[in-house]
Amino acid sequence: MNDKYLEYKELLEKHLLDFLPDIDHKSITLYESMKYSLTAGGKRLRPVLLLASCDFAGGSVTDALPYACAMEYIQTYSLIHDDLPAMDNDDLRRGVPTNHKVFGDAIAILAGDGLLNTAFECMNKDMLMYFDEPEKLKNRVKASYEIAKGAGCRGMVAGQVADIEAEGKQCSKEMLEYMFINKTSALIVASVRAGLMLGGADDRMLDDLTKYAECIGLAFQIEDDLLDVLGDAKELGKKTGMDAERAKSTYPGLYGIEKSHERLSELYEAAANYIAPYYDNAEFFAAIIEILKNRRK
Ligand code: IPE
Ligand code: IPE
Ligand code: MG
Ligand code: MG
Ligand code: MG
Repeated sequence: MNDKYLEYKELLEKHLLDFLPDIDHKSITLYESMKYSLTAGGKRLRPVLLLASCDFAGGSVTDALPYACAMEYIQTYSLIHDDLPAMDNDDLRRGVPTNHKVFGDAIAILAGDGLLNTAFECMNKDMLMYFDEPEKLKNRVKASYEIAKGAGCRGMVAGQVADIEAEGKQCSKEMLEYMFINKTSALIVASVRAGLMLGGADDRMLDDLTKYAECIGLAFQIEDDLLDVLGDAKELGKKTGMDAERAKSTYPGLYGIEKSHERLSELYEAAANYIAPYYDNAEFFAAIIEILKNRRK
């Protein structure tokens, strides 16, 4: 993996538990359950993108940490809920038993709720420190709004509903695109945009990098669907072949493996074109494309 990626990932992981609320012994189960899924591993792609985007726009990476951690809390909550018996019913995640397998369905639901709320608690707490610095406060409000939108009913949650409703059905190509844009791309786009906003990026940069993120966001879910067919469970930390078992609507299911690869190449090329005007300054974002491409190798 790219050195810069590891640097951002290590920084994130060092502070990942810093923003969890102080828990007394009466709520220790909740804390343990949240911590279990947060520390189980994961690629940390979304918070890494947030930190890198803030850096790219000239902002302070350390100052962006509450937002990067919030992003990972939301990502982890979305996976805990995604794995529940009422959703995808998976028993392996990030290389360990899923949260509900260890803590039971009720606690897993509540750990997800806890993580989602902690995300907003930690961003709002950070904003409280900037009442005397209107420009910085404005950037923080914009970033957290972006994250709320990406995670919510016009983003990830909407996509998850589409995914569930498309189970066992012949989903249209248009619906599949809508599902991917929301369930997966929305959090990736939000990570990049929030990071750029924290760094004070101008509209031009925001536009270019948003388009880049839309391309890699869509590609990420196509890769995920392909890996479910072609990937290695041990490497992925989750079982393969589950989409077929649950009759999920997937990209390779609707278009075939070859067409999926073709679409991926197009998306990666388009993503690279959006960052081309920044030459070497956007080196990290070009490296992300390579990292995603190499996931299948
Ligand atoms: C899994 O995301 C959910 C999808 C959008 C496919 P990741 O593959 O990024 O999972 P982690 O966070 O690395 O565990
Ligand atoms: C999940 O899509 C997207 C989320 C918002 C969690 P999948 O259901 O395909 O993700 P995996 O394969 O379980 O990681
Ligand atoms: Mg799912
Ligand atoms: Mg799933
Ligand atoms: Mg999947």
